[in-house]
Amino acid sequence: MANPCSSMPSSFVTFIIIFQVLCTCTMYANGCYTSIISFGDSLADTGNLKQIYYNTNQQSLHFFYPPYGETFFHTPTGRCSNGRLVIDFIAESIRLPLVRPFVGVKGRHMMALRRGVNYAVAGATALDSSFLAANGVVNPMTNSSLRVQLGWFKRSLPMLCANVPDCKHFLGHSLVLMGEIGGNDYNHALLAGKSIDELETYVPLVVEAIISAVNEVIELGAKSLLIPGNLPIGCSPVYLTMYYGFDNVEYDNSTGCITRLNKFAEYHNELLKIELSKMRESHPDISFIYADYYNAAMQFFRSPNKYGFTNGALKACCGGGGPFNYNVSVACADSSSNVCVQPDTYANWDGLHLTEAAYKVIYKSVFEGPYAIPQFQSVCPAFIRQDIDGKSSSI
Ligand SMILES: *[C@@H]1O[C@H](CO)[C@@H](O)[C@H](O)[C@H]1NC(C)=O
Ligand SMILES: *[C@@H]1O[C@H](CO)[C@@H](O)[C@H](O)[C@H]1NC(C)=O
Ligand SMILES: *[C@@H]1O[C@H](CO)[C@@H](O)[C@H](O)[C@H]1NC(C)=O
Repeated sequence: MANPCSSMPSSFVTFIIIFQVLCTCTMYANGCYTSIISFGDSLADTGNLKQIYYNTNQQSLHFFYPPYGETFFHTPTGRCSNGRLVIDFIAESIRLPLVRPFVGVKGRHMMALRRGVNYAVAGATALDSSFLAANGVVNPMTNSSLRVQLGWFKRSLPMLCANVPDCKHFLGHSLVLMGEIGGNDYNHALLAGKSIDELETYVPLVVEAIISAVNEVIELGAKSLLIPGNLPIGCSPVYLTMYYGFDNVEYDNSTGCITRLNKFAEYHNELLKIELSKMRESHPDISFIYADYYNAAMQFFRSPNKYGFTNGALKACCGGGGPFNYNVSVACADSSSNVCVQPDTYANWDGLHLTEAAYKVIYKSVFEGPYAIPQFQSVCPAFIRQDIDGKSSSI
């Protein structure tokens, strides 16, 4: 994509040039995108579920309390981590504001979200809650599935693109983050006691739901989409604890993760990648970037020390004790839970979610490294990470 700053006619008078520099270049912060639009679940939620619970007077969830947020924001924001998520590192790199949650912003105040709006909701599924419920899978946290999030998006679009040439133009210059989404369809089903064999029958449906959402946003004008795959769920303290002591569970010797669950996540990712290559063929003018969260994360599951995770990658920093510091009845932030002193030495935060340090490794691997198809820098050559922490960090 051309950098609009470098294509200004030389005949422009100085004040026009200054005007252009001030307006166009701040709009096109990094030369590629003027806005981030995000859909997904707790891997990307920057506060929507917290606001939904507040608006509907529902009982608070554990991650609305400290120590959530302690490392970066110094207050719980509704993010399921101690600090920033992948989406926060993306926004910082593009020099856009951190992507604000959509829920709770109304009417013309939506215009303040035009440089970034987040519809992701912790606990959300790709498939409709009603469909999952009909199959005996109850979502205890939220009904704000991908279709609901798309509905919010379509309703808010006229406000988001007010004062720009048109909505297609606005969306064409936005980076759309479609996910991660789908992980919870499987999590909720596994926790409801479904077998992995049964879960496998959901995979084509989940992938279809993601692709259908991708189709809807490109019909509205989106041209650059990033679609992350599932994480290696066999490395989650939740499942390592759930299957602990079972003698029929096979572990990967190089990581200690549950082989079958990781193979399952890979199956989802393979199907998603196949559908994305079909999309690339039928829409050659649109960038579909697959973000390989799975293999980006496997780097630190294989060599935790190399990434500073000196306390290992399989034990939660914050939780209710036990071999992986996870106990389903004692969540992180509950009064009887414990929290580690140095979260940066852990890859896992609360049993299900990663620490800021782990999300940063994933961010760097996907956006600056080789864990995207096609590589992100081939889509947006101007994408050079600004120094996020004032120190150069190596992975
Ligand atoms: C989901 O929707 C059903 C039916 O509308 C409602 O009864 C239930 O309370 C909702 N659950 C959540 C967590 O919002
Ligand atoms: C993994 O470790 C177990 C126990 O130490 C051993 O029996 C098995 O052969 C190993 N598998 C591989 C593939 O190395
Ligand atoms: C989880 O915590 C509960 C409540 O403290 C306790 O009774 C139970 O034994 C713990 N489970 C494990 C596996 O440690």
